Amino acid sequence: MPDILIKNCKGLVQVREAGIQHVAGKAMAELPVLEDAFLYMQDGVITAYGSMKNMPAYSPATTIDATGRFVFPSFVDSHTHLVFAASREEEFVMKIKGATYADIAASGGGILNSAKKLQKLSEDELYERSIGRAYEIMQTGTGAVEIKSGYGLTVKDEVKMLRVARRIGKTTPLTVKTTFLGAHAVPKDVSKEFYIDSILNEMIPAVAEEKLADYIDVFCEQGFFTPDETERIVEEGKRFGMKPRIHANQLHRSGGVQVGVKTNALSVDHLENMGDEEITLLKQSKVMPTALPGAAFFLGLPFPPARQMIDAGLPLAIASDYNPGSAPSGNMPQILSLACIKMRLTPEEAINAATLNTAVALELQHTHGSITPGKVANVFITQPIPSIAFIPYAFGSRLIDTAVLQGRVVKF
Ligand code: NIG
Ligand code: FE
Repeated sequence: MPDILIKNCKGLVQVREAGIQHVAGKAMAELPVLEDAFLYMQDGVITAYGSMKNMPAYSPATTIDATGRFVFPSFVDSHTHLVFAASREEEFVMKIKGATYADIAASGGGILNSAKKLQKLSEDELYERSIGRAYEIMQTGTGAVEIKSGYGLTVKDEVKMLRVARRIGKTTPLTVKTTFLGAHAVPKDVSKEFYIDSILNEMIPAVAEEKLADYIDVFCEQGFFTPDETERIVEEGKRFGMKPRIHANQLHRSGGVQVGVKTNALSVDHLENMGDEEITLLKQSKVMPTALPGAAFFLGLPFPPARQMIDAGLPLAIASDYNPGSAPSGNMPQILSLACIKMRLTPEEAINAATLNTAVALELQHTHGSITPGKVANVFITQPIPSIAFIPYAFGSRLIDTAVLQGRVVKF
């Protein structure tokens, strides 16, 4: 693989020593940036970086001059549902006219609507409908992504979704982690008990048999799955080698955080509805609290109390939740803007939340999330911009120029 030198970087962002884990509390505000720097990558791996004045005499196959530009580690988006059949803008219009997320779900819309459409597609068709979204998120700086199932809701269709997610990991330079989310909603024509039995006795073994999922998730929410049901499902997933991550506290204080902590989940995600009890519990755990500000924005929900969580000393991750119902965008710079504007994170905190902390949430901290020798050569180069804060500030602007993913320059 040809070696790549990026020289004259205005700033090399998120340079860290090997062994860095997550950042929490006050440390979230610290973002190491090396000014006037070079970055050297060989065989798909970051091998060296430093100040321009100390740059060795390289003769690389590819040299990129980054004068005026910042170089970042690629974003790690630790929560998406980007394999889906079709958009749902008709529900968007219903919401504008006053329907709530719960109203839409109760009338057979929402997740069940997505499932109906996805069940009709072949695996190849679903791949064709989804692959464009993978390329779209690369263009906005994502290098590693988690993709969930949960729009299949039958054994065959959940397996189909996860195969497509795995295929995206093979056919693109994205690093993909997959999550089995059979417990996303109960199909209309069966009882919940029957469906949970099918998850436990059919879906989990089928998914495990083909090694299709790294993780297991449950939508722990009133009208979906209770904390007890969540616990049963994720404990069974754990027996098959899938660690839990939980959709928690999106619409209510659902007990999702409690079950996440109890079952040693890697992350609890959403967290729009939190109390002091949940924050205290998280403080005593290793679970990564993850905010999905795109979903709170799109659904008009209160935002997670991110400031309160960080000030309490917790780490925070932020992810896109890219899905057709509650967050139809996987644009991580936009997520940074929302995190800063709506949750009062500083740009440094937001960048840490979307790189280092999401890497930990996906168990990718040894390979992704920072510019560190030995990590995968996954970086992006910005347009010429005045400062790092300009990225969340200039919301909606296209500020990413080029990406290097797994050691290859990706042209957009
Ligand atoms: O993360 N909350 C549950 N699941 C998704 C939304 C799914 C949908 O509406 O299609 C979410 O917001
Ligand atoms: Fe989600």
